[in-house]
Amino acid sequence: MALYRRIPGAIAVITLTNPPVNALSCTVREAIYETVKRATADQEVKAIVLCGANGKFCGGADIKEFSREMRGPPLVPMIDMIEESEKPVVAVIEGVAFGGGLELALGCHYRIAHSGAQVGLTEVTLGLLPAAGGTQRLPRLIGVPAALDIITTGRHVSAQEAVRLGIVDKVTDSSAMEEAIEFAKTVAGEPMGPRRLSLWTAACPEDLDSLLEGALVRIRQRSRGALAPVACVQAVRAAASLPFAQGMKKEQELMAYLFTSGQARAMQYCFFTQRAAARWTTPSGASWENTKARPVQQAAVIGLGTMGRGIAVSLSRAGIPVIAVETEQKRLKAGRKAVNSMLTRESQKRGLAEAHLGSISFTLDLRKLRDTDLVIEAVFEDMALKKQIFSKLSSVCRPDALLCTNTSGLNIDEIASAASRPELVVGTHFFAPAHVMKLLEVVCGPRTSPVAVATAMQLAKRLEKIGVVVGNCSGFVGNRMMRPYTEQAYYLLEEGARPEEVDLVLEEFGFAMGIFRVMDLSGLDVGWRSRKELGLTGPKLPPGTEARSRGGRRYSPLPDILCESGRLGQKTGRGWYLYEKERVATPDPWLQSFLEDYRSRFGIQSRRVGQDEILERCLYSLINEGFRILQEGIAASPEDIDVIYVSGYGWPRHRGGPMFYAWMVGLPKVLDKLEHYHRTHPDIPNLAPSSMLRKLVARGSPPVHQWRALIQQHSSQL
Ligand code: NAI
Repeated sequence: MALYRRIPGAIAVITLTNPPVNALSCTVREAIYETVKRATADQEVKAIVLCGANGKFCGGADIKEFSREMRGPPLVPMIDMIEESEKPVVAVIEGVAFGGGLELALGCHYRIAHSGAQVGLTEVTLGLLPAAGGTQRLPRLIGVPAALDIITTGRHVSAQEAVRLGIVDKVTDSSAMEEAIEFAKTVAGEPMGPRRLSLWTAACPEDLDSLLEGALVRIRQRSRGALAPVACVQAVRAAASLPFAQGMKKEQELMAYLFTSGQARAMQYCFFTQRAAARWTTPSGASWENTKARPVQQAAVIGLGTMGRGIAVSLSRAGIPVIAVETEQKRLKAGRKAVNSMLTRESQKRGLAEAHLGSISFTLDLRKLRDTDLVIEAVFEDMALKKQIFSKLSSVCRPDALLCTNTSGLNIDEIASAASRPELVVGTHFFAPAHVMKLLEVVCGPRTSPVAVATAMQLAKRLEKIGVVVGNCSGFVGNRMMRPYTEQAYYLLEEGARPEEVDLVLEEFGFAMGIFRVMDLSGLDVGWRSRKELGLTGPKLPPGTEARSRGGRRYSPLPDILCESGRLGQKTGRGWYLYEKERVATPDPWLQSFLEDYRSRFGIQSRRVGQDEILERCLYSLINEGFRILQEGIAASPEDIDVIYVSGYGWPRHRGGPMFYAWMVGLPKVLDKLEHYHRTHPDIPNLAPSSMLRKLVARGSPPVHQWRALIQQHSSQL
């Protein structure tokens, strides 16, 4: 609702009240209409102050209402009504003015912000555009270039930047409310015409076309295939070139298009699922509701390699003191130097004061970990080494210390078996670079206690990461699903495709990088090492093993051959691509003739592989593994899998995540295609449709949020 009161000085104060962020629900909109009408009709009122309860102006539209039929008064005429008022309306921006909240403020004649406030037109992050005049008023207020940036990125703008850009008229460190009331008194009685943004012309550079083209290029790089940012550019173009009324019409048309595109639905799904991941459950039935996390006041990191450095920085940034341990002086020195420079860069970038950082001390002595609450091991991916460390930690650390491992796929249960308190061993699988990537897979072994899971999930939150609880299996959820995806990519090369063709299809789908470019970036030796350990490569092979099969299953030795010839990716200047200029991938003629030789050596008839086949085989094999993971209870829900893929694996947000995407495509189609590809490639077991997928199709392909209940039913029948 919106509260109305008249205060001395002939001022009407309207307060939006809808906790927690005063979202513009149907009731709030109705109340704004009514109170603004009342204030404009009231002879005693000379000016109106519009503010939000509890120190927050307005968080925007009520996202809960998105899926329903629109009820109540629409926003556009309501904001127009405010703008048309002859009495000045002053918005008091405290806390946040996001999305519809900022659009509402742009309809007011003046905006006064508190110095701690943030503003933004965030709709693009939900697959939409600001459709209550935001795309038309903001460019008129601050010019096309700045508005274009804010509208197409949805970024949050600080009060300081907002005043610099001209979004707000004034910023104050003291009470924005008092400031606004005093200000309103001074402008009462002035003509409001010049303050109506709909009457302004947007300032734009001479070469509007190249400005907009530049924005489109950046959008393609950042989120290829996403419709909303492109629609935002079109709307801003309308603001720059059309009268207000026609621009508004264009804004509405673009919004209607986005609303029905499916992408908005996918992005809203991402928004809700990300929040839901914090409400975890384990296979044994423990959950966030009945388990309390232990406090973490002191942490330790073992191993200061690629991952340990990023983890130490994350902990310190969250204000947690860290002890970092290495094996030898040289590595300790290198680790310290790297961590310190990362911290300096971080604090400059984020404006963090040194006092807010947790201290980091560096040592070679594991005994220094006597008082730590939590230890994160990030040494080499070697089971024997990890077990040795967990056994040592058991004798050094306090009996209640949480012992975490950053293994990317080793058996947590086996690692825990070396500890005297296996219930306090939990996997914390960070992603590289660990101080940047948002995802944290919290891996729960059969003996991991609920308290250990709760503490790791609480840590994720403190580190501003998205924790997702997963079960213990080789590769956990994310890396396990990557395997069939990567394997399909190799098979496609064997059959006739080129790396750049496969990558282009995946990038057109929306991944920032295709799989071959990703492998070149992270190093081909990463996978090679684990295949060697599994005995899949080289001299360890049992005699008589065919080069293209292992244990009756298809196997591609392609990446192994590349590694053997020293092509490890970017770091060696060549991998699936050639890197003559650092980081710039160019197709390599050598690879093309190598593939031709390879095919003729194995009698493979090369063929043109179509784009649909590339996409379907890569994605559906990954999705199929997701269904197996659900069936085995390794992930508690399809939503968890989707959060993992969107926040850790570059799955395009506007496609919702692999499981949501499967549902959008249609589960019967996914099943049908998998059956088809499995028939043509019977030696690839990953392509055999999982029984969970069949079951869901048999049940009429229910929406994703209903799968969890069906899976539980299914497992109880197993
Ligand atoms: P790395 O090779 O860069 O660093 C490992 C560090 O551990 C080295 O500095 C080494 O000196 C140190 N170390 C070895 N034994 C030690 C001991 N006994 N005590 C103290 N320090 C010791 O390895 P990276 O890439 O940082 O990986 C670490 C772990 O994280 C592995 O389990 C890996 O599978 C996992 N991981 C790696 C990811 C990546 O992208 N690099 C991603 C996610 C997980």
